[in-house]
Amino acid sequence: MKVELSKRERGEAVIRGVFEGDRATISKLKVLNFKGTFGETVIFPEKERPVIFVGLGKKKEINEDKLRVAVAKGIAKAKKTFKEVCVDSYSFGTKKGTTKAVVEGVVLSGYSFEKYKEEKSKLERVFILSENEREFELALVISESANFTRDIVNEPPNKITPEVMAQIAVELSQKHGFECKVFTEKELEENNMVGHLAVGRGSSNPPRFIHIKYSPPKAKRKIVFVGKGLTFDSGGLNIKPEQFMKTMKSDKSGACALLGIMEGVGKLKPSVEVHALLCCAENMPGGRAFKPDDILTYPNRKSVEVHSTDAEGRLVLADGLIYGCKLNPDCLIDIATLTGACIVALGHYTSGLFTYNDELAETFLSISRKTGEKMWRLPLDEDLEEEIKGTFTDLQNLGKSRYGGAITASLFLKNFVEKEFLQKWVHIDIAGPAFLDKAWKYYSPGATGQPVRTMLEFILKT
Ligand code: BES
Ligand code: ZN
Ligand code: ZN
Repeated sequence: MKVELSKRERGEAVIRGVFEGDRATISKLKVLNFKGTFGETVIFPEKERPVIFVGLGKKKEINEDKLRVAVAKGIAKAKKTFKEVCVDSYSFGTKKGTTKAVVEGVVLSGYSFEKYKEEKSKLERVFILSENEREFELALVISESANFTRDIVNEPPNKITPEVMAQIAVELSQKHGFECKVFTEKELEENNMVGHLAVGRGSSNPPRFIHIKYSPPKAKRKIVFVGKGLTFDSGGLNIKPEQFMKTMKSDKSGACALLGIMEGVGKLKPSVEVHALLCCAENMPGGRAFKPDDILTYPNRKSVEVHSTDAEGRLVLADGLIYGCKLNPDCLIDIATLTGACIVALGHYTSGLFTYNDELAETFLSISRKTGEKMWRLPLDEDLEEEIKGTFTDLQNLGKSRYGGAITASLFLKNFVEKEFLQKWVHIDIAGPAFLDKAWKYYSPGATGQPVRTMLEFILKT
């Protein structure tokens, strides 16, 4: 689907927003029982072209994410019948950020993963009626970066292996002029990346660690992202039951989010140095697989006893965090579909946010309220550290009880962040929102591309 800015109305139909207080429009639509309540839609025949009216509710209650949702309702209606439609952004309000939210709603809701389908959706072109070129361009980059991530996450595990993740990273880097270094098994051995080597051992698709670097001439700060990239998580020898194994292609969502962030960075060219560290492996129960009882010793001298091969994410992220600290970041952010426990705690629509830094927490929470990529802060509760103390080692990769699983996983990661960076570290558990089995807001089923938009807004803010 193509999205273009237009100065005049065109296409087969037009989508317009209607606030509850808009008496003239509402009395015209009375026969159709349309009241302008939030999310309502009707099609009304007019002279030039039919109009899809979308209710926006009360004007004082509107916000950016409600605008995205409302626009998505209009697009959903248009998708059924039309090939080309126009969205009248003026009718959605006059506040700053309206064009941006409208465009994001269009791009995010226009997305569906239909590469492997014979029948494609009808809607091909959407014109945005607006004067605000700056908001239009920014919104397009941000939301298309999220869709870029969705396209990779949605690809199946027979198409995307760690090596393919590396190819995608190399191609992206060539396109934008980034540096990119791929660590194959030889380099993983040389650098003692014991997590990647252990987790990847049971698979015939070997692990990869990928370092992408964007470095503008006068960078103000340095942000380092670390992403979990399990192209498939079968659980390994602690194999998952069938209902939990299905959808585990989505366990690469953290690393894919980093690819989307870098796609956005390449286009926006912020004056911030940005590094992406993708921790990629396939967790399989092959003959050489790592085992419960295995002991790994990381280069920071922490020893870890494997209690479950299914708690593999933290093992590869540990390599990434150790490497990330060596880059001397001003901010170190890891993004991972880390624990089912985080979904138990917060549900499918909210990510868990962990940090020691109150100011950073508030920054992310306030950006996330605007982007609609919901986050909630969870505590790095010191009293739970006992849960991951090993019997024969410093640490074990699984809590002694299953309670507080999202927190004990975060406390595990903390052991691989050097002391001086603990205040700069943020961990985001996206296990819930990264991949949805049913449609929600402006998302079709499958990958959502979270939290790419929030991270790009964060980079632009600093
Ligand atoms: N990849 C999963 C976590 C996950 C679950 C992500 C559901 C998305 C949806 C992770 O590697 C895992 O298997 N976690 C286990 C941890 C347990 C063994 C401590 C879990 O959540 O059950
Ligand atoms: Zn697992
Ligand atoms: Zn996993």
